[in-house]
Amino acid sequence: MNDAIKINKNLYYIGVSDPDIRTFDIIMKTANGTTYNAYLLKTDEGVIIFDTVKKEFSQEFFEKIESVCKYEDIKYIIMHHLEPDHSGALAELASKAKDAKVFISPQARPMLKSIAGNLELENLENVWTNKELKFGGKTIKFLSTPNLHWPETMSSYLSEDQVLFSGDVFGSHYFDARLFDDLVGDFDYAFKYYYDHIMRPFKTDVLNALRLYEKYDIDMICNLHGPIIRKNSKKYIDAYYKWSTKEERLHGKKVVSIFYVTSYKNTKDMADSIYNGIEANESLIANIYDLTALDEQNMLSILEESTGILIGSPTINGDVPKPVWELLSCMMLLEKKGKFGGCFGSYGWSGEAVDMMQSRLKALKFRVPLAPQKVKLIPTKIELLNCYDFGYEFGEIVNGKMVEMTL
Ligand code: FEO
Repeated sequence: MNDAIKINKNLYYIGVSDPDIRTFDIIMKTANGTTYNAYLLKTDEGVIIFDTVKKEFSQEFFEKIESVCKYEDIKYIIMHHLEPDHSGALAELASKAKDAKVFISPQARPMLKSIAGNLELENLENVWTNKELKFGGKTIKFLSTPNLHWPETMSSYLSEDQVLFSGDVFGSHYFDARLFDDLVGDFDYAFKYYYDHIMRPFKTDVLNALRLYEKYDIDMICNLHGPIIRKNSKKYIDAYYKWSTKEERLHGKKVVSIFYVTSYKNTKDMADSIYNGIEANESLIANIYDLTALDEQNMLSILEESTGILIGSPTINGDVPKPVWELLSCMMLLEKKGKFGGCFGSYGWSGEAVDMMQSRLKALKFRVPLAPQKVKLIPTKIELLNCYDFGYEFGEIVNGKMVEMTL
């Protein structure tokens, strides 16, 4: 039998641990496993449940609930996030706690049927910022925090106890049975790694959420993964601010970065001419990088700082070489809003690589204003001048020149 753990006055931890998981959501390594956090609040009038757990762990979750209340005591279920690691036990919980009303964000409603099957719709209520639940001497303020990291995510705040239920925000894939930030081992690496892979593509939404949170005194952060934060909330909130805020070190200048790979220096010569074209605009900063010598973390930092991104590659066996795919694939961890992209490359026979890269940039929602520059084998002087013009024009567009995005 598993018991709920009291974490604060009438608040209990009813989450579960998954210490042996080593890969999460395909893209994340989880050396320390993870937890699926969920919470239970006892009030004078009944019980409120905050989130559920991954389906495979349902039994432990229900045992924990049963250790502190009866299902008929449960009056409300608040779902901050519907990803299956948190909604896996929702359908069963709703069938056991038949009278409980489920609070979700408006964006969550259309997703719910696919996630929680036959949940009765009359038991659902949509909530958003400025709505609140007053119940049993407690006040829960609902906070709309979309895209962190699904469209339907939300947070809530328990006023009387100054507890923030933050959803995936401030989470980390890090299991430690001691539960709290001040008791567990050093999980800073996991906290940053989680931010980089889950929150980083949504920095603007992170800042919007932080501005909502800052209206409240926060004594404890009950997140959905990893250590509950009760001692150093300022440290973790400040870290999110820092990581989500653009640096001012460039004094307002926009950056255009060129990434290339080259077999016989032909694509590199194109890259150099494009670089010179961009550099002709004094209000831009141009960078140029050989992709074969960059690792992913550095790629991400450069991509993040760049408003314009140009990728150059030869075609090898009808395809784009691996270092370029690695660059293109790590772009899923990037906020693409307002970024421009373009492509170029030298080829021997058919030159498919440039078109593949161009399509990928468009699919990623970059603004791609110019046709790609393709050169057969060794670029001529005229072709290098065309590359210069391409770089100059691309820089002008990054710098605000209006063009039709017809390509
Ligand atoms: Fe922890 Fe986005 O699920």
